[in-house]
Amino acid sequence: MKLDKHYTDPRLVELYDHDNPRGADTDFYLTLAAELNAHRIIDLGCGTGLLTCELATGKRQVIGIDPSPAMLAVAQRKPEAERVEWVVGDASVLGERNADLLTMTGNVAQIFLDDADWAATLCHIHKALRPGGYVAFESRNPTARAWKQWGRDETFEEIETPFGSMACWLEVLEVQDGQVHFVGHNLFKATGEDVVAHSTLRFRSHTELADSLRQAGFTVDRVYGDWHHGAFTDASRLMIFVARRNEPAEKTV
Ligand SMILES: C[S@@+](CC[C@H](N)C(=O)[O-])C[C@H]1O[C@@H](n2cnc3c(N)ncnc32)[C@H](O)[C@@H]1O
Repeated sequence: MKLDKHYTDPRLVELYDHDNPRGADTDFYLTLAAELNAHRIIDLGCGTGLLTCELATGKRQVIGIDPSPAMLAVAQRKPEAERVEWVVGDASVLGERNADLLTMTGNVAQIFLDDADWAATLCHIHKALRPGGYVAFESRNPTARAWKQWGRDETFEEIETPFGSMACWLEVLEVQDGQVHFVGHNLFKATGEDVVAHSTLRFRSHTELADSLRQAGFTVDRVYGDWHHGAFTDASRLMIFVARRNEPAEKTV
């Protein structure tokens, strides 16, 4: 599995929490877990474990799984990390877990570029959940064209970091077939080194995501358009899916 440098370069991994601080998304998923009375929770693509650690309260059993050992190393340094079971890998290593809820946050769902990979991941998630268990994730709505804001002019920032002053910006290289290929520049000013991280994300439509969930044996329970439980509309920037694994006797259509 080829991971982009944001998740493997030791300095970029150290800066991940600075660039992606706690926010309304964290509160959204914590509220959902409480509302669903979820005790066994899996955070797939947990990264540095910000949400994972917050989920791990009381008697909950929480698994944080991510293919990047560097991201998991940051997660494991967090104070509450000992309450979480950390697993290196992707959904294929989960097997049956009888989980009540599986989350994929930080637009992890957009990492699966081809439909076969996405379908296989949903199949593994289905297996990891108990019948009636939930999967919840967000994906950027393609109609909002978020990548239009990912140019150098829109994203350039200078920041102070433990590695000295840095300049960071994005550039989009190609938009084709629902995939956006872009680079993140990370210029370390002291040395002049520019760590260039290539990323490609898939922008699936609401219909594509809903259909893929149905085909994998889920019922779409709700789709929100923002972190404050606003209804999804065509103009929403986000699509936040909450879907339930069908009981064995339920039809998938
Ligand atoms: C944008 S980060 C999100 C991290 C965290 N969920 C958050 O909200 O901050 C994406 C994460 O997905 C992980 N990832 C990459 N490929 C993956 C895959 N095939 N399955 C699961 N996670 C993957 C990366 O290693 C990275 O930690």
